Amino acid sequence: MIVDERMVTFINSLETENSEILETIEKEALETFVPIIRKEMQSFMKVLLAIQKPLNILEVGTAVGFSALLMSEYAPEECRITTIEKYEKRIPIAKENFRRAGKEDKITLLEGDALEILKGLEEKYDFIFMDAAKAQYINYMPEVIRLLEKGGVLVSDNVLQDGDIIESRFAVERRNRTIHSRMREYLYRLKHEEQLLTSIIPLGDGVAISTKK
Ligand SMILES: C[S@@+](CC[C@H](N)C(=O)[O-])C[C@H]1O[C@@H](n2cnc3c(N)ncnc32)[C@H](O)[C@@H]1O
Repeated sequence: MIVDERMVTFINSLETENSEILETIEKEALETFVPIIRKEMQSFMKVLLAIQKPLNILEVGTAVGFSALLMSEYAPEECRITTIEKYEKRIPIAKENFRRAGKEDKITLLEGDALEILKGLEEKYDFIFMDAAKAQYINYMPEVIRLLEKGGVLVSDNVLQDGDIIESRFAVERRNRTIHSRMREYLYRLKHEEQLLTSIIPLGDGVAISTKK
């Protein structure tokens, strides 16, 4: 945890309930150890969506569809969401969750490897949520910039690696070193890419919010 645990508990204690369907799907996801966006990230996303009012959202990393459903509830009624997932076991659960929420006509799930799918997309998006394999963010970046509209918002989740990001490469467990160096490179590129303006926020597991100039 990168923020003091008591502070997170305090902030989360102020949260109001989500809709019944979101509460149910969140509970089911947590019970089955499916990683979904944390409470503090949920309210951050709700505010961003209320400000940006996106009409075409792209999500990389559906899991069981929790964040796609949350975004669908807090984006304008006419907003369409495209979400990408490659894990076969999660795909039918996500589809069933979209059906349970009555959102099948608003959310399209693209099945397969995110990089391959991103390369084939042509539409522009005014909000992109990056929440898949952290080591791949750097590879998704050129495609994501290409697909993001000017004035669009890119949200990249889990960018501070539970605090490991500030440690030297050698202080990080060997199995996490590749992610560590790729995530550092990704954050550097987000901050130095001419087309983007980015802020890195120590919220949840770290979030980077960028806009395309
Ligand atoms: C953190 S979870 C997404 C959680 C979801 N956004 C939510 O908050 O409800 C990340 C998901 O990305 C998927 N993923 C990882 N690598 C991927 C890839 N290369 N292509 C497509 N999906 C991928 C994983 O299978 C996993 O379900």
